[in-house]
Amino acid sequence: MNKYTSIFSSYHTIYRLITTLGELKNFLAGICRLYKKSFHADKVVIISPIFNTRQYLKIRIEAKKQYIKKGGLSILTRIEKEILKQEKEIFVNRRLISPLFFSDTLGAIYIKRDSKMKDFTEDEKKWFASLCEEISLGLKIHNLYQEQQKLVINYIQSLSRLLTQFVPTSYMHTKAIFRLIKALGKEMKLSETEINSLEHASLLHDTGKIDIPFELLNKRRSLTDEEFKVIAKHPRKGVELIKNLEILKPAIPIILHHHERYDGKGYPSKLKKENIPIGARILAVLDTFDSMYFGRSYKDNHPLEQVENEIKKNKGKQFDPKVVDAFLKILKRKSIQVLLESYPKKNKTTCSL
Ligand SMILES: [Fe+2]
Repeated sequence: MNKYTSIFSSYHTIYRLITTLGELKNFLAGICRLYKKSFHADKVVIISPIFNTRQYLKIRIEAKKQYIKKGGLSILTRIEKEILKQEKEIFVNRRLISPLFFSDTLGAIYIKRDSKMKDFTEDEKKWFASLCEEISLGLKIHNLYQEQQKLVINYIQSLSRLLTQFVPTSYMHTKAIFRLIKALGKEMKLSETEINSLEHASLLHDTGKIDIPFELLNKRRSLTDEEFKVIAKHPRKGVELIKNLEILKPAIPIILHHHERYDGKGYPSKLKKENIPIGARILAVLDTFDSMYFGRSYKDNHPLEQVENEIKKNKGKQFDPKVVDAFLKILKRKSIQVLLESYPKKNKTTCSL
């Protein structure tokens, strides 16, 4: 590959990484690989503060191995802290260091060649600096996207609170459920986008109940076939209400299929097993947990052990066994138990809907 092909290819790779707008970790790892290959570097390190936290993400590629660290200032070496503080480029022989800056400090990158290699040329230094500007832009876009996500969550939470006024059956304990979604999502190795979509869906999954008559939603006796048909329309109606909001599009399959059952006896599409979107299989478990553990305005809460037994009983029937196993595993964690115990529970006995 000649020099100019490498240069064009490097800009194309950055453009692709920026427009994909995936997880920060993947973006930074992609940048590290690109720098290693383009500049024949022996070592590449990239550091970026994680948006809205006091944490940093540091990715290092050295001797064909990739290392990822996430944490506070303590994960940075003295020199790395100095680089972030100084905010200036340092180009010496076989080392190039640049801050990543776009109205704020967005991180830093440094690359190093081993002693057997030639020094970086002037052209390579200019190329390195120019790519760093592109990366800074990418990080800025990433942060703006995170900001937008936060706004969307606030907006959805307001919508959800409004919905709760009309559909008290649908309340999910947001903070606790979000913690469970994050823990379960990580345990099941979901991507950040999948976890975000699950959060959105957890807030809006029952939006479609908004035009179901209140008496029917609160009916205390078993539903007739006709009444069940009305209730069973709520996933599709919910999707109709939110389908034009671009940012909620990934949540649509979760909302649409949150009442499917692993054994294929659910609704609206009678999907079976892995044909049900993973987010919907997870939400099915969380929805049951939320309703049983915290109770509803019309229903008792239950002790954790009883909720766990109910979920176990439905493993492979209503619920995906893999989701059940992962969920029961995270429920054993001390931090999760402390969180759950911190919530006051309702104690009202009434209907069986
Ligand atoms: Fe529902």
